[in-house]
Amino acid sequence: MNDGATVWFTGLSGAGKSTVAHALAAQLAGRAERVFLLDGDDLREGLNADLGFAAEDRTENVRRVAEVALLFSRASHLTLVSVISPYAAGRRHARARHESAGIAFVEVHVATPIEVCEARDPKGLYRRARAGEIQRFTGITDPYEAPEAPEVVLATDGRSPARSAEEVLAYLDRAGLARPRTHVPGAPAPK
Ligand code: ADX
Repeated sequence: MNDGATVWFTGLSGAGKSTVAHALAAQLAGRAERVFLLDGDDLREGLNADLGFAAEDRTENVRRVAEVALLFSRASHLTLVSVISPYAAGRRHARARHESAGIAFVEVHVATPIEVCEARDPKGLYRRARAGEIQRFTGITDPYEAPEAPEVVLATDGRSPARSAEEVLAYLDRAGLARPRTHVPGAPAPK
């Protein structure tokens, strides 16, 4: 019963969403899943290149990402999504679109505190936001509405991305959303 599912990573810029999503993809590599990773940064280079960071643009960005994810998941992929998706309404809409299509939607909050993200500042964007060079920066001058009931919350007490990915994988296993590692295509799934 692996009909595709969307695993939606939400969190601040620099929280580690993409890193954990890539680690999860690597851990799933030994299984029979078709895994597809949709990264917000990649999509903003093409499909969403017309969008900026005003509220309505972010809403449209998240809406398009949700629709693309849904297409992949409906085609029996395990679709890993990595976008800030800062507004609760946008994530609710994404979930509702999946639920009405009968596709599982797993929300993963990468809950790295802003102080940690800002200290990492991998792209130098927090520094530029503090200097007033970037407007409407999430967590600084634009809100991040933390999920209230995500399926998984990744605490960040210094654990490795691989360890965080294992937590998500454990959830997927419990929920029956990922094929067991030992599964041989064509053979009955082990109990
Ligand atoms: S979302 O808000 O629409 O979900 P998305 O995940 O696609 O955002 O893109 C976020 C990435 O865009 C960040 O990781 C960062 O690299 C870059 N970025 C540029 N400007 C901003 C901004 N004002 N706020 C947040 N991220 C920004």
